[in-house]
Amino acid sequence: MTKRAKIVAGNWKMHLDHAAGVALAEAIVSGSDAQNTTVVMCTPAIHLKAVSEITHKKSGYYTGAQNCYHEPKGAFTGELSLEMLASVGTTHVIIGHSERRSYFGETSELLAQKVNAVLAAGLTPIYCCGESLDIRNAGSHIEYVGGQLKAELFHLSAEDIAKVVIAYEPIWAIGTGVTATPAQAQDTHEALRGVIAEAYGADVADGISILYGGSVKPDNAATLFACPDVDGGLVGGASLKADLFLPIIAAMEAQQA
Ligand code: PGA
Repeated sequence: MTKRAKIVAGNWKMHLDHAAGVALAEAIVSGSDAQNTTVVMCTPAIHLKAVSEITHKKSGYYTGAQNCYHEPKGAFTGELSLEMLASVGTTHVIIGHSERRSYFGETSELLAQKVNAVLAAGLTPIYCCGESLDIRNAGSHIEYVGGQLKAELFHLSAEDIAKVVIAYEPIWAIGTGVTATPAQAQDTHEALRGVIAEAYGADVADGISILYGGSVKPDNAATLFACPDVDGGLVGGASLKADLFLPIIAAMEAQQA
């Protein structure tokens, strides 16, 4: 089987002022020594330059944005292009987080354009997908999330989809303290990998990192990361404190020891 990249990404959302963001990034980079894990801190845009100066000092550590606009430039007040994000050292961009879908009305069509723009700029999309509790309870989560992949990613060539990091984030587990069980995460990741394999073949599907997101904490990270199809985590609340994020990085490192 292909050795997939193991990734622990933090999504700071709209938290931390500049001094607190820089201090956190410094604490994460100096407090961990990830040899086999890619660590990404997805910060508010105003911290990207300072945080990327910190992450660039150590191999395996990267800085990500939480959103972008797909047009290269122009009269789009308040938006940021990929060229701008890359110019301050950003290497990853979260696309399609459920908060962007629900609060900012981001559609599948727009998300497909954003994924294209991130890839065209040579950056890595951390593409988020996931179902609501109603869909999970109805048992149609694989069909629903598979549909998101088809509508938003499957226009890509095999070469391009191989560069996407997928984050499966069940909406009912985000910020709620309710985590998907390791079995729920594993079953869903395995099924999504199957959906990718049907479209692109097993080799491509085996190479794509699928992260789990939704109330990942130090005390559940190890069991989640032990699942064969869970290649890391996209961590919200627990990425805001070094004493919570560092043990999550360590849990992924220990998995590969
Ligand atoms: P959470 O957020 O870890 O606070 O549940 C995860 C996310 O929204 O990416």
